[in-house]
Amino acid sequence: MSRIRIFDTTLRDGEQSPGVNLNQLEKLEIAKQLERFGVDRMEAGFPASSKGDFQAVKAIADTIKNTSVTALARTVKSDIDTAWEALKGAEHPSIHLFLATSPIHMTYKLKKTPEQVMNTAVEMVSYAKEKFHEVQWSAEDASRSDLDFLAQIIERVIDAGATVINLPDTVGYTTPSEYGQMFKYMKENVPNIDQARLSCHCHNDLGMAVANSLAAVENGATQIEGTINGIGERAGNASLEEVAVALKVRADFYPYTTGLKLTETKRTSDLVAKLTGMYVQANKAVVGRNAFAHESGIHQDGVLKHASTYEIITPEMVGVKTNNLVLGKHSGRHAFKDKVKELGIEVSEEKLKVAFEAFKQLTDHKKEVTDDDLFTILMEVQTDT
Ligand code: KIV
Ligand code: ZN
Repeated sequence: MSRIRIFDTTLRDGEQSPGVNLNQLEKLEIAKQLERFGVDRMEAGFPASSKGDFQAVKAIADTIKNTSVTALARTVKSDIDTAWEALKGAEHPSIHLFLATSPIHMTYKLKKTPEQVMNTAVEMVSYAKEKFHEVQWSAEDASRSDLDFLAQIIERVIDAGATVINLPDTVGYTTPSEYGQMFKYMKENVPNIDQARLSCHCHNDLGMAVANSLAAVENGATQIEGTINGIGERAGNASLEEVAVALKVRADFYPYTTGLKLTETKRTSDLVAKLTGMYVQANKAVVGRNAFAHESGIHQDGVLKHASTYEIITPEMVGVKTNNLVLGKHSGRHAFKDKVKELGIEVSEEKLKVAFEAFKQLTDHKKEVTDDDLFTILMEVQTDT
């Protein structure tokens, strides 16, 4: 099985989510949890963007020892110098340079010709290489770039010293087969491509960030970038917990491993949600409140007989303590009895029948019956003579 590197950008791209503004302490807490989670690289921020970000990146670089800490920089000398100042205390510092390569970005945003973009990228990668051993270069908006131009610029920046080439789907525009094709094309058309690691970075505007990341891996990418809970610009980035669990659960199809400690998934997700204020929706894959909840009677019965009937991910795998049978109007006797047992209350068969009827009446006007409701019902039937 080949090893896929996980590059977490919760603290940089994730923090670019509208309304999210983490202070240094909060960033440090998340960084420590990311280290426990086992990500290979964490992008701590963009030091040239503000004094606060510089300080936070520096604090993280000085604290985190087991994960490579990286920082974002534009292809300008002052950004690279500032990033070095923030990162030089890190155990494994690396830099992430980016420059757009799509006609739309080069024409309207950069107002540069493709040749100028090529020269700037090459010059700044060599400059960064004087300080950093690991230099990642990203072709911003790669998925809307001309493939031949992309192949040429990649060859040149690898010659200049880039060790990682990242091909972002910056605006979440691509589809899995198209994105996969781009990686395949680079593998086949860039002569020195094997001297660098290929990385994918997907945004979720069309809801395909995770699928696109997996397609990239199938076509030669060995680094996946994303964020916890999929937070990030606009509709967010690829959700790392979804990518990691997909690779694990479908190892028959994806022969790759990651260094993630999946049992830390839920804790990491909860921490990021709490500190960013970006709470995950109930039906979010892997970490949502309902991810292991079964409401219909048939599903509940199946899960109680054998969890694999309706569960492809075990709660234990991702650090969720117990599975959560939600009791509602579709629930049957079997699930009800089990829940009562889980609450630690002993009732006779006769009283259980009465309690079940009371529960059914309650579900007529209450969608979800809580543990507190059940306690009340059970206490009432217990005291009934
Ligand atoms: O989405 C993107 O293109 C980025 C780059 C800075 C890598 O986040
Ligand atoms: Zn991005």
